[in-house]
Formats: sequence, C-alpha cells, structure tokens
Amino acid sequence: MLKISIISIFPEYLKPLELSLLGKAQEKGLISIDIHDLRKHATDPHHSVDDTPYGGGAGMVMSAEPWGLAIDEVSNSEAEFDLIVLTPAGKKFDQQMAMSFSKKENLIFACGRYEGIDARVSKYYAEKRNFKVHEVSIGDYVLGGGEVATMVIVEATARLIPGVLGNPQSLKEESHTLTNKDGSLVEYPNYTKPANWRGLEVPEILLSGNHGEIEKWRIKEAERRTQALTKE
Ligand code: ADE
Repeated sequence: MLKISIISIFPEYLKPLELSLLGKAQEKGLISIDIHDLRKHATDPHHSVDDTPYGGGAGMVMSAEPWGLAIDEVSNSEAEFDLIVLTPAGKKFDQQMAMSFSKKENLIFACGRYEGIDARVSKYYAEKRNFKVHEVSIGDYVLGGGEVATMVIVEATARLIPGVLGNPQSLKEESHTLTNKDGSLVEYPNYTKPANWRGLEVPEILLSGNHGEIEKWRIKEAERRTQALTKE
C-alpha cells in the first residue's frame, strides 16, 4: 500500500482528497492519505513558522525546524521515504514522474508557502536521512502554496495504482500513455451517441466496425493533435 503523508499550514485545504476516486482508494486500502498541520511543530510562543530571509529581500521564508520536526514525526520508521517538496523552482511534473511515484512505499509532501522552505531541509533529508528528495513544480506559474500542486500530483499518481481505477484498460489509451517514435501523444478525439448532434456527424470510420482502420485513424488523429499543440 502506498502511504502518503502531507504537511501543510492549511490542512483543510486538502479535504477534497477524501472524495471520489481517492476516497474510494482509501476505503479499499489501496492507499492511505494522512494530513498533518505544520503549525503544531512551531517552536516559538507565537506559533510562527516563517522568518525574514538571510541576505535580505521581500517576503518570508519557512523556518527549517518546524519542517524538521513534522517530517521526523511522519518518517519515524526504517522504511524508504521519498520527500516531495512543492516549488515553482522544481522539476516539471509529468506522467512519467506520476508513474514512478505510484510505485513507491512512502511519499511525504511538503507544501511550502511564501518564498518557500529553508533550503537546508531538502539537503538534510537527502544527506542525513537518505531520503530521495524531489523538488517538483506542476507548471511555469506561481501558486499561493504547494497544496493545490500536491492534490494534482496525488490524483495523477494514485489513479495509476492497480485497483484504483474501475477499468484499468482506460490507462492504456489515454493522453501521455500513447506513444510514437517522437515521444508521448495526447489522446485522439472521442465521440458517443447520438451519431448526429446538432447537425455534426461522428467521423464515418468510427461507425464502420473495422477495428484495424479505426486504430490507424486514432493514431493519426493523436499525432495531428499533438503536432497542433507543439506548433503554437
Ligand atoms: N508552489 C507555488 N507554485 C508552485 C508550482 N507551480 N508548482 C509547485 N508548487 C508551487
């Protein structure tokens, strides 16, 4: 079972993880998701978790020690841990990364806010605790914090775990799983009944029952769509 621990100063922000596919996956015992409040580990009387940056500059930086205490608490065993630190300065998240996370035992998500987390936290867990540390961004834009990014990554990762999706066949033909010699493709367009909707017809080939030709058409359409995206 994949054990997911999420540390945030806004634990309520992560409530949607109890719903739908991920809620069911937890009920079935395929994953566990535990959400932890960073502020419980604040070390000063005002429960602050941030401070001004060394070297000056705007904004606040999250202090190392509350993070250290929170991560120590959720990693208090001999198991293998992967620490995922959400930051717009991280490696871009993609389907391949989701696939690799879905095969792990323990994922710890550190949701930073403000100008991020003191850089020594990543260094400490990589060097002193032998964690695999991944600094990850979900795209080239800046969010208010790592919570939404965590939800994106948890959802993309969990649906790849066997048993989480009702029909595992759906994984085979979707965007970023289809490939050709140039890399990953987005999915071909899909249609359902009626065959004529407001004067618009479903492509003839899909009604032909010729599975070989349908497969060829779908690959061609997936390539066309992928090319159109990279031209923009
Ligand atoms: N925190 C703020 N922006 C982010 C992004 N784009 N990805 C991950 N974490 C973030």
